[in-house]
Amino acid sequence: SLEVPNVQEIVRDNSSRVPQIYIRDQYEMPKATDMAHLVTDIPVIDLSLLSNGNVEELKRLDQACAEWGFFQVINHGVPSEVLQNMKQNADGFFNLSLEEKNKFSMPPDDIQGYGHAYVVSKEQKLDWSDALMLVTMPPEFRNLQYWPTKPEGFKEIIDKYSKGLATVGEQLLGSISLNLGLERNTLIKEHKGLSQALRINYYPPCSRPDQVLGISPHSDTSSITILLQEDHLHGLQIHHNGEWIPVKPIPNALVINIGDVIEIWSNGKYKSIEHRAVTNESKARMSLAAFLFPNLDKEIEPFDCVVKSQGLLKNYKKVKYGDYLLNSMKRKMEGKTHTEMAK
Ligand code: SIN
Ligand code: FE2
Repeated sequence: SLEVPNVQEIVRDNSSRVPQIYIRDQYEMPKATDMAHLVTDIPVIDLSLLSNGNVEELKRLDQACAEWGFFQVINHGVPSEVLQNMKQNADGFFNLSLEEKNKFSMPPDDIQGYGHAYVVSKEQKLDWSDALMLVTMPPEFRNLQYWPTKPEGFKEIIDKYSKGLATVGEQLLGSISLNLGLERNTLIKEHKGLSQALRINYYPPCSRPDQVLGISPHSDTSSITILLQEDHLHGLQIHHNGEWIPVKPIPNALVINIGDVIEIWSNGKYKSIEHRAVTNESKARMSLAAFLFPNLDKEIEPFDCVVKSQGLLKNYKKVKYGDYLLNSMKRKMEGKTHTEMAK
């Protein structure tokens, strides 16, 4: 294994140099024709309609989960000041000196803090990004030693933001439960205090965006992920019908994706879709990914009533969530990107 370098420092040293370990094989990179799909929009769901129990919107949600695994939500109730404030503070943090940021660095035996959680093999290509990872919910799970004290007030805004997202998550899990034929609170109960981890990704500009990836293709090990991206910068791409489709930002919307856990619970009716991020030449981009996750000791398997209504067999083995996470990290080290392990 090797230590993951700090990309911001690589760029600071020499903004035109891209070390070999970041340079991808050409087949991994976006082709010019991919840009034709800039016009394809992923579904947009109005959360205020869902919370009013609107049947049409529930149906649209079901389709979005089944056909896309990705959608954007509007009217989600998190004030735009909180979103903008969160992005400004995150940007402020990444623009501190390395020394300041390293006061919150991730030790080798933890997954929280500033740095990368994965040990990677020497053969593996690296991602053109730096990150800050924090467990944010429920409040008693927080380890404040990793919460940045600069910019001043950042901790308070993370607190507000993560509580706002917990409410969004609760509404989505409730609606997804209903759509799967479960009681409204079934999936919510699997998450202690709507457990949530936040990873803030920072992608410095890259002189060769045609040769690197900001984040390698992966699916999320969460139940659902709630992503805040920049209002006017593309970067996120999802794998849909065999093509990479850019997710066009809608200012103040949140991007939601189905994670591996809901794929398993739904017996594959809802898919945890592979996605990746590309970089650009002129501007740093940030994204803030909040992962909702069940209790580590929960046994995850398809719900009987879902399997019955599909008329299929169980496609996934029962697995303890904590073990699933550990296995996924191992697979990542081996350079594997897709999540067939539960099958
Ligand atoms: C992620 O998958 O965590 C990041 C996606 C993005 O940067 O938009
Ligand atoms: Fe992701």
